[in-house]
Amino acid sequence: MTANRPLALVTGGSSGIGFQLAARLAERGHDVAISGQSERVHDAAKELEELGVEAYPFRADAATFDGVEAFWRFVADLGRPINVACLNVGIGVGGAFADTDLDDELRMIAINCAGTVHMAKRVVRAMLDQGPDQGDRRILVVSSVSATTPTPYEPVYGPTKAFGFSFAESIREELREDGITVTALLPGATDSEFHANAGMGDTVFGDNSWKNDRTEVARHGIEALFAGDDHVVGGDEATKQQVVDHRSMSEPEKAARQGAMARPQR
Ligand SMILES: NC(=O)c1ccc[n+]([C@@H]2O[C@H](COP(=O)([O-])OP(=O)(O)OC[C@H]3O[C@@H](n4cnc5c(N)ncnc54)[C@H](OP(=O)(O)O)[C@@H]3O)[C@@H](O)[C@H]2O)c1
Repeated sequence: MTANRPLALVTGGSSGIGFQLAARLAERGHDVAISGQSERVHDAAKELEELGVEAYPFRADAATFDGVEAFWRFVADLGRPINVACLNVGIGVGGAFADTDLDDELRMIAINCAGTVHMAKRVVRAMLDQGPDQGDRRILVVSSVSATTPTPYEPVYGPTKAFGFSFAESIREELREDGITVTALLPGATDSEFHANAGMGDTVFGDNSWKNDRTEVARHGIEALFAGDDHVVGGDEATKQQVVDHRSMSEPEKAARQGAMARPQR
C-alpha cells in the first residue's frame, strides 16, 4: 500500500549526504525514488525499504541530458504526485586550475549546474501542474558552504555551488505565491566519499575524521525543508560560525583561508 504515502525524489541518493536525505525522508514516511551512477543504488534502496517505505532505485549518469531525463521519466512514470525533490547530486574536482583537466571540470559543471537546472525544470512544472491539493510541494537544492567563499584549489567547484545557492533563492521567490517551498542546504565539510572522489586525498579535506557527520547534515537539511526555510548551513556550530565569518571577511581573506586547506600537501 504505497498510494497514501508522500513521494520524494533524491538525486545522488545511493550514498553520502543524498542517502542520508533519503533515509530522513523515509523515516518521515515518504516513499523515495533515488538515483545513482553505480549498481549500489539498488542496495541503497533495499536499505531504505527496511525503514518501512517503498524505494525506487534508478541508475543513470547525471552528467548527461539523457541520464537526467531518464531518471525524471522513471519518477514521472510512477504516476504519483511529487511531494519532495532533493536536487543533491554533485561532484568536486580538486587541484590548481593550471593542472586540472578541462573535461573533468566541464563534467562537474554538467552535473552540478546543468543537471540541477534540468531536474528543477521538470520538478517545478510537475509541482505546479499537480497543484496544492495533493500534499507538500517542497524542493531542496544541495549547495555548500563553498558557495560563500572563493575556493582556490577547487576553483570551479565553489562557483558551481554558488550557482546552486543563488538559483535556489531565486526560484524560491518566484514560487512563493504558488505555495512551493525551495530551500538551499549548505553543508560544511562532511564525511562522505566526496573529497576522495574529487582527488583531494592529499589535502586537509582528505581526512574524514574531523568533518561533519553526514547524518546530522542531512537532518539539518530536512528540518529546514519542512520548516520552509530559505537556506540552512548543514553542520556543527563551527561550520555555522564559518558562514557568519564569511559575511564580514574580504574575498582575498576568505580565498587565503580556504586555499590553505584545499592546497595539495605533497
Ligand atoms: N561532502 C562534503 O564535504 C560536501 C560539502 C558541501 C556540499 N556537498 C554537496 O553535497 C552533495 C552530495 O555530496 P556527497 O558528499 O554526498 O558526495 P558523495 O559521497 O561523493 O556521493 C555522491 C552521490 O552522487 C552520486 N553520483 C556521483 N556522480 C554521479 C553521476 N554522474 N550520475 C549519477 N549519480 C552520481 C553517487 O552515486 P554512486 O555512489 O552510485 O556512484 C552518490 O550517490 C553534492 O552536491 C556536494 O557538492 C558535499
